[in-house]
Amino acid sequence: MHLIGTFGSALLLAAFHVALADAQTCAKCDVEAHGFASLNGGTTGGKRGRIVTAKKLDDLIQYAASAEPLIIRVDGMIKAKPFGFEVPVKSHKTIIGVGGKSGIEGGGLNINSQKNVIIRNLKIHGTYDKDNWAGKVGDYDAIQVDNSTNIWIDGNHLAEMGDGLIDLRRDTDYVTVSKNIIEKHNKAFGIGWTTNVVTKVTINDNFFHSTNVRNPSGDAIKHGHLYNNYYRNITGYGNYARGDTELLIETSYFEDVFDPIVAGPKGRIKTNWVKFKRCDGEIHLDVRGDTVFQASKFYNYTLADPYDIPVDVPYNAGPKVDIGV
Ligand SMILES: *[C@@H]1O[C@H](CO)[C@@H](O)[C@H](O)[C@H]1NC(C)=O
Ligand SMILES: *[C@@H]1O[C@H](CO)[C@@H](O)[C@H](O)[C@H]1NC(C)=O
Ligand SMILES: *[C@@H]1O[C@H](CO)[C@@H](O)[C@H](O)[C@H]1NC(C)=O
Repeated sequence: MHLIGTFGSALLLAAFHVALADAQTCAKCDVEAHGFASLNGGTTGGKRGRIVTAKKLDDLIQYAASAEPLIIRVDGMIKAKPFGFEVPVKSHKTIIGVGGKSGIEGGGLNINSQKNVIIRNLKIHGTYDKDNWAGKVGDYDAIQVDNSTNIWIDGNHLAEMGDGLIDLRRDTDYVTVSKNIIEKHNKAFGIGWTTNVVTKVTINDNFFHSTNVRNPSGDAIKHGHLYNNYYRNITGYGNYARGDTELLIETSYFEDVFDPIVAGPKGRIKTNWVKFKRCDGEIHLDVRGDTVFQASKFYNYTLADPYDIPVDVPYNAGPKVDIGV
């Protein structure tokens, strides 16, 4: 009697452990996107799908390629192979780092002709090659998005890669890029690679730090809404309406930035409450600004006091210990 009882409890305990290992949770993984990514049906990623965990590159590749909606927890720093490899991500996925130190080293993520993808709380770094500062060989991006819609890139730390940290290309639309640290890099964040002017993107609460050019640069942006961003130690240029691009730039703080805000011959810019500290070069505050869109017609949002930005934005940006755990 006693023996059977002990055996029974052992079985129960074993079953309980299996159940625990299976039923995964993911803290703060259910949040939905704001800004332009909240339109066109919204950006929810793998919400309502299974929660899975990738600790190795092969698991991440397999889960990201799956047809079902998935919340994919990246647990630990996954090394990409071959060097510079960008893991292809299919529609309806949330890829989220577990805690403050998970991500991808030596490669990145690629989203091509997909929709509804969330990339959060990851550190992506390590394809930088000092002999290739110009990024002329090897297209080693942290996050490359082609011809896709409803993408939310939030709370990541993107640094020291071979080409762009974020490239939004070929008519990618309904994108929000928020709370990222975009750091120690040459060509930080580019938008365009198309002759169509369709891209609508919200860029808020990011910390652009010690980068050179493209913070961001837009060749073709239908509506670009930038607010609550902090730009510090930027050697090349800051916001650039390069081609047929329209930018609404609100509540930003630029510190030690060369050419903080620039419109090319076809660019249009409207600014609202933007601060400059020790900046040099060109500042185009109003370039046919009366023709620039009103963001409040598309969604609601909250502007920070620009004087709070240098403290609050670096503090809140990047991966956090209490997310994805
Ligand atoms: C763009 O994506 C759509 C699917 O959303 C696909 O049908 C089309 O072929 C893609 N176009 C290019 C040029 O890749
Ligand atoms: C500014 O950024 C450059 C890289 O663009 C870096 O070499 C330099 O150390 C940075 N300076 C500070 C004060 O962070
Ligand atoms: C903003 O919020 C107000 C009040 O809740 C609402 O009436 C309005 O429709 C919202 N605007 C947009 C564009 O969603």
